[in-house]
Amino acid sequence: MTAFMVALVLVVAAAGLLRWRRPAWYWMTFGVTLASLRVLVRYASVMDACGLTVPPSRWRLALARVTNRPVPESRPPRILRFRPTRTGLVLRLGLRPGQDAFDIAAASDRLRHSFSIYGVTSREVRSGVVEVRMTGYDVLKRVQMPAKLDTRPLRVPVALREDGSVHYRDYRAVPHALTLGATESGKSVYQRNLVAGLAPMDVALVGIDCKQGVELFPLARRFSALADNPDTAAELLDALVSRMEGVYQLIRAEQRITADVPDAEIAADIWDLPEHLQPVPVVVLVDEVAELALFASKDEEKRRDRIITALVRLAQLGRAAGIYLEICGQRFGSELGKGITMLRAQLTGRTAHRVNDETSANMAFGDISPDAVLAAIQIPAELRGLAVAGDSTGGWHRIRAPHTSLRQAVNTCNRHADRTPALPELAPFRPELTGTPEAPVPLSKTAPATA
Ligand SMILES: Nc1ncnc2c1ncn2[C@@H]1O[C@H](COP(=O)(O)OP(=O)(O)OP(=O)(O)O)[C@@H](O)[C@H]1O
Ligand SMILES: [Mg+2]
Repeated sequence: MTAFMVALVLVVAAAGLLRWRRPAWYWMTFGVTLASLRVLVRYASVMDACGLTVPPSRWRLALARVTNRPVPESRPPRILRFRPTRTGLVLRLGLRPGQDAFDIAAASDRLRHSFSIYGVTSREVRSGVVEVRMTGYDVLKRVQMPAKLDTRPLRVPVALREDGSVHYRDYRAVPHALTLGATESGKSVYQRNLVAGLAPMDVALVGIDCKQGVELFPLARRFSALADNPDTAAELLDALVSRMEGVYQLIRAEQRITADVPDAEIAADIWDLPEHLQPVPVVVLVDEVAELALFASKDEEKRRDRIITALVRLAQLGRAAGIYLEICGQRFGSELGKGITMLRAQLTGRTAHRVNDETSANMAFGDISPDAVLAAIQIPAELRGLAVAGDSTGGWHRIRAPHTSLRQAVNTCNRHADRTPALPELAPFRPELTGTPEAPVPLSKTAPATA
């Protein structure tokens, strides 16, 4: 008996310690079973208390009267599927007549408290079916990406969402994106995650980093072209525009359409070409975009116009030629001059890290979703890397990228340096590399290299 008591105390103490220090491990060992039991046992009473039940239908009342049975109780939504996951629980609910997805969404906070769970979100799967995702702990506090990821070409698992699912940056679905955030909010770390995710894929990376190249130049081995100042950036963007035109010529030749067909009528893209002819897709990463749009003299103004025009052209026509833009900056509004709002309108994917004022959040989400603006302003300063990601459909999520250090990203890029395609149009901008790729350097003095 004493041995049993000692074992019990040890197990409870271990559970308490895990819950405090390693919530993810706690969830996988104890949390998931306890929470599943709690949800399944208390389901009917909690749904009733949260106002998510419907009174019995007329025929059930009539049947009870005829058969002289007690009056049937109100019924909660049917549980169609119940699935424990690495971070929480997923329930598929079949709604009763008279209920809608908004009822469940509106009650999510009440459900969270009633089931003593960290977070509850819901979304409609199809008419009459709602998926409720519960998280057992704050998954964004210490981001751990799942080991098994659904990787497809040009689809990078870049961050974790607050409901525990993976946030993908899918270049085929959302070709161009804008990432905003105040200084030290985590933009460059997000971009670094993207580079590390793209490194093993068949893609050419082009970087423009006007912070003298401090963010992207260490990753140079995986980059086909780099620019660290606005002058080189202007030339590089012009070269990209001519590459785009070249790719369109190739698509046209393959379509056997005569040269006088106007550009706008070309419907095909590089993915329709036979595999041996397909040009390699290019992802253009721009950090600190405002540097490209600022000018102090007449000459610099000309250069600025050239850069913005090239970016607008790439954003408008680049997708079909396999050129994708990924733009990062602190603000991106009309105060940066003409052409900026036009460029912004082409950047479908939007991500906002912590911003200092509403106007900055409006630059990301003002034209998409007012709720997302509010969520972006509320990001606390101490949670760097936390961001709100939305798209033009109006949907948005709170996300956080894993904290990839520059050393980890450099190791990943060096490991995949042989995948760097040499693009003839961009040859003058190929970063100069000295020596052979170094062996991965340990991430710290004590730890062996893992990335
Ligand atoms: N996802 C994250 N998880 C944990 N820490 C993060 C994350 N993202 C950023 N940080 C922390 O915030 C610091 C600043 O991040 P980062 O350099 O990406 O900011 P930034 O927005 O690019 O700033 P700036 O505009 O000055 O370039 C990083 O050094 C890192 O310590
Ligand atoms: Mg930065």
